Amino acid sequence: MGGGRWGAAAVRRRLGHSARVRVIRLLLVTSLPWTLALGAFVILSAVVPVTVLAAMGQVVGRVPAAARAGLGSPAGHGLIAALVVSMAAYAVTLVLGPTQTAIASAVKVRLTYAMQDRLVAAVSRPAGIAHLEDAAALDELELAHGQLTAYYPADAPTTLAVVIGNRLSGLVACGVLGVYRWWLGLGMLALWLLVRRPLRKVVYEQAQAFGRTAGLMRRARYLQQLAVKPGTAKESRVFGFGDWLIERYREQWTLGMATAWQMLRRYNIGVTRLGGVVLAGYVAATSVIAYGAYHHQMTLATLATLLPMLVASAEVGDISWNDVALEWQLTALPNLEALESRLDPPRTAVHSRRIELPAGAPEHELRFESVAFRYPGARSDVFTRLDLSIPAGRSTAIVGLNGAGKTTLVKLLTGLHDPTAGRITVDGVDLSTTDAEGWQRRVAVVFQDFVRYPTTAADNVGFGAVEHICDRSAITAAAQRAGARDLVEVLPKGWDTVLSRQYKDGVDLSGGQWQRVALARALMAVDHGARLLALDEPTAWLDVRGEAEFFASFLELTAGLTTVIISHRFSTVRQAERICVLENGEALEIGTHEDLMTQSGRYAQMFSAQASRFDQELRG
Ligand SMILES: Nc1ncnc2c1ncn2[C@@H]1O[C@H](COP(=O)(O)OP(=O)(O)O)[C@@H](O)[C@H]1O
Ligand SMILES: [Mg+2]
Repeated sequence: MGGGRWGAAAVRRRLGHSARVRVIRLLLVTSLPWTLALGAFVILSAVVPVTVLAAMGQVVGRVPAAARAGLGSPAGHGLIAALVVSMAAYAVTLVLGPTQTAIASAVKVRLTYAMQDRLVAAVSRPAGIAHLEDAAALDELELAHGQLTAYYPADAPTTLAVVIGNRLSGLVACGVLGVYRWWLGLGMLALWLLVRRPLRKVVYEQAQAFGRTAGLMRRARYLQQLAVKPGTAKESRVFGFGDWLIERYREQWTLGMATAWQMLRRYNIGVTRLGGVVLAGYVAATSVIAYGAYHHQMTLATLATLLPMLVASAEVGDISWNDVALEWQLTALPNLEALESRLDPPRTAVHSRRIELPAGAPEHELRFESVAFRYPGARSDVFTRLDLSIPAGRSTAIVGLNGAGKTTLVKLLTGLHDPTAGRITVDGVDLSTTDAEGWQRRVAVVFQDFVRYPTTAADNVGFGAVEHICDRSAITAAAQRAGARDLVEVLPKGWDTVLSRQYKDGVDLSGGQWQRVALARALMAVDHGARLLALDEPTAWLDVRGEAEFFASFLELTAGLTTVIISHRFSTVRQAERICVLENGEALEIGTHEDLMTQSGRYAQMFSAQASRFDQELRG
């Protein structure tokens, strides 16, 4: 987890008043009417409960005189008036509850949309994916989502309104006490503020500690999902690690929740300890009032009004579960803002100079110039100093052992990651100075872990050029060349078959069939303007014959295109016009098949080891 962002000072900055102000500002921007409604709710919930108590005090105070003089007398009228006021005020309190629910749901819907939109926008803004592979950013993402707490971020304004309303109602009660004796009002206020302080601290510390458990909770959620996902079910049953997963999930979740439970304990201990102080203050205040009543310094009405005010004033110091919920709800917005600024850093001078790539690029070459790369948070470099030229309009093959960095090279080439040092150029233009999305539109790729979209076969191919997703003839043409057309057309609903068994009438394909669909998607992109085709182990899922067929048509499929093909099968790679052997973070050997064979280096060695076996398989 990224060190300083969760330091005590940082958390205090995120929480506290600024977060409250920001939530209110967000609400104002999202919906002025609902902000006003919430404001009205705050005022009503501050004033009305105290009004009920005060009116009831008046009722009690007016009963003796009205009883003596009769209901028709002025005293009787006074009693009736006090009763009507107290009932009316009470009626308002009855309406307050449902009103709060209504306001809460309206506000929640609006804020949810607003915050989700911002979250989605922030996460999809970067052209690269470094942020999605960085543990600290992922924690921040989940916190902003409010996924790690039972408290939903969009509830923050209503919880805030309730908390402020209660606090104000306590203040109003202190005010009423202060009208009788100023020092009584102030004394009670001071007592409650004193009590509030240590409890408040517990709540703050808890919210802070919670941030530190984000990683644990994310892992717990991940384990829980693993335990219930169909994909894992096959293996977890056969290998029998289902119980182990659940056990681990429980362990991580318990660890993550431990801070919450610890806080609850500390809160309860705090409340118990403060009980003595509260009791002493309460006894003192009651004695003052009782003394005044005994010495006829106040009317019965005043007495009956002041006593319940003592109880009502406690709202000033009341730290309830609402406050805890509020702290957690409030963390979401600062987290969202932190994520937004992390993912959209202020443009530097270099970044603001977005150079347009010429329409035909790459026309000459792609170049890796002294490229170094390390994954975010990783301990070592994948590339230390990679120099490589990829000529335009030709095929280049990348070979190397597992973990040599072949897939990483594709990610750099497709602008999903930026080099940590050095640069990648397209016809001499530094990729980092161009518009990354514009570059990505020129690239078609079959990733090693290509995606199997649970949607129709047509969509799965159409995603290659989404603006032509309805063009069936383009889709079938791409599929034809990828060898995917026949396999789709025999499906129950042909191109409209959903490729996932999780949907009704959906079907799943075999690994090799999926690979052809992924290839069709890439060719669809090529047909609609992509100029670089990158294939990362494109035949890994195909059988030997399928692979042989693929490479037989490979040159025809890719004629005139800039192609980067990765395969660990050397016998097929030999067809490429240029071959690069990756090892130890650099390009160890570069040349044609013939060049490299004459060099008798690593390539020649690996080629000879594999070629004979592959030929045997093909014949067998
Ligand atoms: N997302 C990632 N975060 C951190 N390290 C990674 C990530 N992806 C790959 N690596 C590491 O980078 C190195 C190169 O991986 P990769 O490019 O997938 O190799 P290849 O495709 O040649 O088998 C490996 O050591 C791998 O563990
Ligand atoms: Mg790989």
